[in-house]
Amino acid sequence: MENCGVKILGTGSYLPSRVLTNADLEKMVQTSDEWITTRTGIKERRIADDKTATSDLAVEAAKNALKEAGLAPTDIDAIIVATVTPDMFFPSTACLVQKQLGASKAACFDLSAACTGFIYGLACAKSFIESGMFSNILLIGAETLSKITDWNDRNTCVLFGDGAGAMVLGRTSGQKSVLSVHLGADGNYESLLKLPGGGSRNPATAKTVEERLHFMKMEGREVFKVAVMKMSEAAEKALEIAGKKTGDLALVIPHQANLRIIEAIAKRMALPAEKVYVNLHKYGNVSAATTIIALDEARKESRVKPGDLVELVAFGGGFTWGATVIQL
Ligand code: ACO
Repeated sequence: MENCGVKILGTGSYLPSRVLTNADLEKMVQTSDEWITTRTGIKERRIADDKTATSDLAVEAAKNALKEAGLAPTDIDAIIVATVTPDMFFPSTACLVQKQLGASKAACFDLSAACTGFIYGLACAKSFIESGMFSNILLIGAETLSKITDWNDRNTCVLFGDGAGAMVLGRTSGQKSVLSVHLGADGNYESLLKLPGGGSRNPATAKTVEERLHFMKMEGREVFKVAVMKMSEAAEKALEIAGKKTGDLALVIPHQANLRIIEAIAKRMALPAEKVYVNLHKYGNVSAATTIIALDEARKESRVKPGDLVELVAFGGGFTWGATVIQL
């Protein structure tokens, strides 16, 4: 597939309508709007209702992306869903999305790289398309983190939200959209951010439920330090691979975990505030869905225009990290 590149054909996002504000959280745990705002920048987040699973949010985001791409579900060769909150262990959420969309020709699988999942998925989609294996790929980042949040734990419950974003990618021999992807991981940090229960290490028992092991656990302060360092390095590496400089970028979309992390990265990259996208005040941290929801919003709000260079950079449990430079 000589000179074959990847083109972004469409993006879409979907957020559940229910809003949980910091004032609501004040009634649930010992916290305050002032603490949450100054420590994280988050003001509210979206929460899926009891009947809604990750695949339901993913399907809505996918429909929006397909509409913009002008493709039918049957035009899709592969569906990749990046998530840490699959509907169930198996079948994959991607298979459930395929069923709901009627994307009968697609190969389907889920991808687990926590908050970096969408960027890992973009690397997969790029490789599949450039190798000639698939032509059109539906890549989704979707989460219902509210379902694995311990609503009694103020250290974590103020941080996360639900939502989904999707991107349709196709093959081009013209202007490429995905110029570079850099990925990294360090499993030595596995204990700092995890969902301990329910897997083969701690299968579900009455004891694991009693010990609240089916909820996310995080050592926030440690995560914070490594996140700043690794996201800054990843952003630099992806720029280097693309042969671009920070000054060439129209916008940087960092993972939306904490405003102080975003500000620290912007400072390290010498980026002016107007070139850094922030929407975490509305949605909190939506893990694998975060960067694609933000990209879709930035496009729809005309914060970016066709031809602009945009960099996405993320960090998450594992630890995993990654960055990509794309040309819209
Ligand atoms: N309300 C009030 N007080 C709180 C709350 C709360 N919601 N949460 C914690 N506190 C208290 C703590 O108990 C602690 O009290 P103590 O000093 O008496 O023990 C105090 O506030 C300070 O706690 P720290 O943990 O030091 O607070 P910090 O300033 O580090 O902020 C935070 C915590 C927001 C979690 C921050 O560390 C952070 O954002 N970390 C990174 C998270 C991240 O990037 N995750 C990325 C990936 S997520 C994924 O992959 C799914």
